[in-house]
Amino acid sequence: MQRLTGKVAIITGAGSGFGAAMAHRFAKEGAKVVLADVNAKRAQQHATEIGEAALAIQCDVSRDDDTKQLITSAYDAFGRIDIMINNAGFTHRNMPLDSVSEDNFDLIAAVNMKAIYYSTLAVLPVMEQQGSGVIINTASTSANRPRKGLAWYSASKGWVISATKAMALELAEKNIRVNCICPVESDTETLSLLLPDQTIETRQALKQTIPLGRLSKAVDVANAALWLASDEAAFVTGTSIDVDGGYSI
Ligand SMILES: NC(=O)c1ccc[n+]([C@@H]2O[C@H](COP(=O)([O-])OP(=O)(O)OC[C@H]3O[C@@H](n4cnc5c(N)ncnc54)[C@H](O)[C@@H]3O)[C@@H](O)[C@H]2O)c1
Repeated sequence: MQRLTGKVAIITGAGSGFGAAMAHRFAKEGAKVVLADVNAKRAQQHATEIGEAALAIQCDVSRDDDTKQLITSAYDAFGRIDIMINNAGFTHRNMPLDSVSEDNFDLIAAVNMKAIYYSTLAVLPVMEQQGSGVIINTASTSANRPRKGLAWYSASKGWVISATKAMALELAEKNIRVNCICPVESDTETLSLLLPDQTIETRQALKQTIPLGRLSKAVDVANAALWLASDEAAFVTGTSIDVDGGYSI
């Protein structure tokens, strides 16, 4: 039996990495998926691979007008929105905290934090009218266990966990569940910023900090999102799931 039959999911940052894996996984489980990304071409490539159940929409999540348009287009296409995944993220390159420029800081705040505010305000009326909804935010293990050189990125992900709990509390009475996922480093494009100057040795050293001995895979994160989005997690809200091979222990 498919686990998301009849559901419609919007996934931001779906042109690559975790978001793309979620889109493929969710579609296999019967969902209609809206792949939102600032990079329209990559979102479209994945939507084409998925087929009829997918729609790609160009959206810069740090913009209110783009986000409102995303919600409207998704609703017009599929007639409901059950799952909103705030996954698009941005990090400064690994560097000392006093070397991060103000522009870079502002971009992190806009993409990792303010975008969740915009999308929540835009999707809420639809979920309220339906009487149900699920929101999933992608945080990071760096929220609770930061690594050196990623201070402002880590702090933004701490905000995501706090926002998740606060949103879950306030939206419970509307039957809207809100959870987040904390992945450990994965071999997506973001890794080149989190761990620049990669060598066999630095990658090996990184793996050694993870008890299960490997980086996360996009499908690990997609599987966690799938469970949280499904009715199997009907009584789960306000939680954050570490998908990290034990790194946070
Ligand atoms: N890769 C890791 O090691 C890692 C670890 C923990 C958490 N995360 C988080 O996971 C999430 C997904 O990252 P990923 O590793 O899959 O990265 P990725 O770089 O593979 O994909 C990110 C996608 O987001 C899109 N994007 C960036 N800014 C955007 C914007 N303003 N509006 C819309 N789309 C935008 C990019 O075009 C890209 O397609 C992010 O929130 C990231 O912070 C990543």
